[in-house]
Amino acid sequence: MEKTTVQKNSIMNSGTDKKLKLNYRRSCDCQPTHINCMTAKEWLKSQLGVWEFYYESRDIRDKNLHPATFPISLAKKIIELFSHEGEIVLDPFVGSGTTLVAAQDTNRNAVGFDLNPAYIRLCESRLSNQNIFNKSKQIAIQDDARSIQEYLDNDTISLIWTSPPYANLLNRKRKNKSRRDRKNEQFLKVEQYSQDERDLGTYDIDKWAIEMGNIYDKLLPLLKDKGHCVINVPDMWWENKRITLHIALVEELRKRGYELRNTIIWDRRNIVNNIGIFGWPSNYITMGTTFEYLLDFWKPPIKGNK
Ligand SMILES: C[S@@+](CC[C@H](N)C(=O)[O-])C[C@H]1O[C@@H](n2cnc3c(N)ncnc32)[C@H](O)[C@@H]1O
Repeated sequence: MEKTTVQKNSIMNSGTDKKLKLNYRRSCDCQPTHINCMTAKEWLKSQLGVWEFYYESRDIRDKNLHPATFPISLAKKIIELFSHEGEIVLDPFVGSGTTLVAAQDTNRNAVGFDLNPAYIRLCESRLSNQNIFNKSKQIAIQDDARSIQEYLDNDTISLIWTSPPYANLLNRKRKNKSRRDRKNEQFLKVEQYSQDERDLGTYDIDKWAIEMGNIYDKLLPLLKDKGHCVINVPDMWWENKRITLHIALVEELRKRGYELRNTIIWDRRNIVNNIGIFGWPSNYITMGTTFEYLLDFWKPPIKGNK
């Protein structure tokens, strides 16, 4: 398909010459062995395995704009831990562009992909107030995550970070008691991103895990040696069964050559509102929304490169 729209920060329906010209080398003067630009004090604070974040006014909380965003502060922390200034961060499922905003804030180049053109326009509008002194570049591209390798060269990406669709979790009518009680406008709505057959949010867990594996398989060569790949994912309940998306993902990515380094818990209790009662008094069910996993993988170093 020919290039139809090229805006400052976004590419819609990219054409034949797709390779992006983005600097991937550090612009900081950190030691070569350092994995980030953090001071020892900042590093120390990141060692805890349970993290908590707050939304700020720039965050997208309106579910009509996008149904599932993470906070800018979460994306910023991951970016600052696993990349240096000037390097490239990739988000294969960029949604409203939160990763791109965080990359702009932290002086990283970044590329994000999404199937949905409305989300790419949203990314563009969020990136429009770039500070003129910021030399980094953030680009949103409307394309399938399966085509990312057409845009980027091997060994150029320092961090792959995303929150993917959680299989078909959203692809059903919202019936939560809390939404009904609050006369929430999302009650009985399907908050899915799209019904596009390439959209991973339309797949059941088995198909989802394999497709995630297929996509991440093609992304591994793009990562620099020892580059990190962090994925935000919850588990879920479906027809009284626990669906362990995080286990399926770890198994699938290990098969594709990624190595799991850390499991971090994103403690979301501070942002969950109006808890309804589930299961009482016969069936104990923890509320899935109170925490999610941040699975930290890396591309294992080639032998002899410790
Ligand atoms: C959980 S959302 C990401 C939200 C993002 N973290 C934010 O803060 O806005 C997942 C996104 O994946 C997109 N998506 C689904 N299947 C895709 C595919 N095959 N290729 C690219 N994007 C896809 C959806 O349109 C959706 O916006």
